[in-house]
Amino acid sequence: MKIIEVKDYSEMSQKAAEYIIEKVCQNPKIKLGLATGGTPVGTYKKLIEDHQKNRTSYQNVTTFNLDEYIGLSGENKNSYRYFMDEQLFNHIDINKQNTNIPRGDSKDIEEECQRYEELLAKYGGIDLQILGIGSNGHIGFNEPGTNFTSQTHVIELAPSTINANARYFNRIEEVPTKAVTMGISTIMKSKEILLLVSGETKKQAMSKLLNGNVTESFPASVLKNHPYVTIIADKAAVSGLMIHSE
Ligand code: GLP
Repeated sequence: MKIIEVKDYSEMSQKAAEYIIEKVCQNPKIKLGLATGGTPVGTYKKLIEDHQKNRTSYQNVTTFNLDEYIGLSGENKNSYRYFMDEQLFNHIDINKQNTNIPRGDSKDIEEECQRYEELLAKYGGIDLQILGIGSNGHIGFNEPGTNFTSQTHVIELAPSTINANARYFNRIEEVPTKAVTMGISTIMKSKEILLLVSGETKKQAMSKLLNGNVTESFPASVLKNHPYVTIIADKAAVSGLMIHSE
């Protein structure tokens, strides 16, 4: 894992955007794996700014999002489909048909998981996967204890995840308790991974990631087994940690 330590959230967003833009320019047909949450919002803003200024094109780019809440349709403001449209897709020249997010309101959710996994395989997998990290070490919505061999599946959200994400909802009771997420093995099949980390609330998770063992009880630790991971983390998240990276 290569670690790039930056000053703050703004610098993390700038560096991450530059990283992604370079990859898109190198391969205009790149298949990008995208994440939601507060962490990538600044990066998406920078991608939009760059698109407006430098006309970087996403016309031939295909995207796959990591996860979606079960029970929310794309029109629901708290759905990840809505989030992605608002935060990125509506402001760049991507073809919406090339943007894939699991359908959380699917009638047959198990079938939806299978469809998503097969779709990913049909496209030959993800070239660059953007990831955030939950304070409990989750990646996508793969909560602690998720099997490393898991594919796209339904997950019961941990109470700490529900608490952390309640800030986006009117009331905590409105936060869905289940989600569809790419599995750990699905994520690990990506050719390259870019993990973005910002803020003091992620410091403990970063300490575990950098210095702990690879274990299913801390999902992000699996990234140590991936050959091509870059972490862009700000000082608040990593300063003072004993970093043993390769
Ligand atoms: C969310 C998402 C993850 C995200 C993580 C951290 O629930 N499912 O993909 O990386 O939790 O979120 P944030 O960036 O808001 O801290």
